Amino acid sequence: MNTALITTIENNALEAIGSIKDLGTLARFETEFLGRKSELSNLLKELKNLSPEEKRATGPKLQALREKLQMLHSEKQAELENNARDWEAERLDVTAPGISQAVGHLHPITVLEHEVLGIFERLGFLVAEGPEAETEWYNFDALNFPKDHPARDMQDTFWIVGGGAKIKQGKKGDEKERLLMRTHTSPNQVRFMEHNKPPFRVIVPGRVFRNEATDASHEHTFHQFECLMLDETGKVSVATFKHVAETFFENFFGKKVTIRLRPSYFPFTEPSFEFDISCVLCDSAGCSTCKQTGWLEIGGAGMVHQNVLVAAGYPKGKYQGFAWGFGLTRLAMMKYKITDIRQFMSGDLRFIRQF
Ligand code: PHE
Repeated sequence: MNTALITTIENNALEAIGSIKDLGTLARFETEFLGRKSELSNLLKELKNLSPEEKRATGPKLQALREKLQMLHSEKQAELENNARDWEAERLDVTAPGISQAVGHLHPITVLEHEVLGIFERLGFLVAEGPEAETEWYNFDALNFPKDHPARDMQDTFWIVGGGAKIKQGKKGDEKERLLMRTHTSPNQVRFMEHNKPPFRVIVPGRVFRNEATDASHEHTFHQFECLMLDETGKVSVATFKHVAETFFENFFGKKVTIRLRPSYFPFTEPSFEFDISCVLCDSAGCSTCKQTGWLEIGGAGMVHQNVLVAAGYPKGKYQGFAWGFGLTRLAMMKYKITDIRQFMSGDLRFIRQF
């Protein structure tokens, strides 16, 4: 075979590729030099007609040329494609300000709940929890509510339809118990006492439910804390409660607050009181949040009624302590100056995103 022909093909190809400026011409180059009908392909096809010696002499040269031309072709192709790119359009401004990603965050009530629990934990309180669907026994009976107490009736309590399964109470045998959505966190006083012996301090956060008409200051679902501190009779008094409450609020609001107790009534405490704190927004000067009174209503408290201690299984007269219930939702309204309680549960992201 004529090796001069191979050299000619190579020279022609090199010359041709050197002047190619566009992809169309490159495609024609490919057909002419590498295509099925190209001179090189014809020579490769003829190889089989050659003698073994000639094959050995020529075959590798043809193969090498084919590979070289393929290489030149793909290099040229890359070069032309690169030139054809619109660099201006692809330009990336690494100094442009970024677009921040929206990440979720905790609900303001949850954030405050963590804060409140943190303060109580530092005061030596344990944290416990209880069920939201509660029995009539824990929510009312064990807490010394008389059978005909109005809180039990349809206006205040969400009763669970069909919630009359047999529930083993221990105390009440296996009498049929009605189920309800707990109206307060106080049932956890009894639940905790049943499994623990004083002295102890415990705080129980939770959602509570009231079957009431809603308005700017009433919601059917809100968050409370139950605080319970018990010891042997004579060791925990109303003064202890006042001190714990004051310490808590000073930590929570970051300033000194005054506590005011007003006589009140709860079936499960005796004596009972409502308590207020000096308005932290206006320093008791009078503002819209405290309705110009200088005081904020916070919750109910009292010394745990002996009937409750007995219902929980303690011997009468042996232990004494305070219970205190207060609304986390109310604290959140004060802290964030929110005037409509319904916003917390509205699911409106425009509200939630402000926190
Ligand atoms: N459970 C009462 C309520 O929800 C508050 C309370 C708790 C009062 C503990 C006294 C003692 O209104």
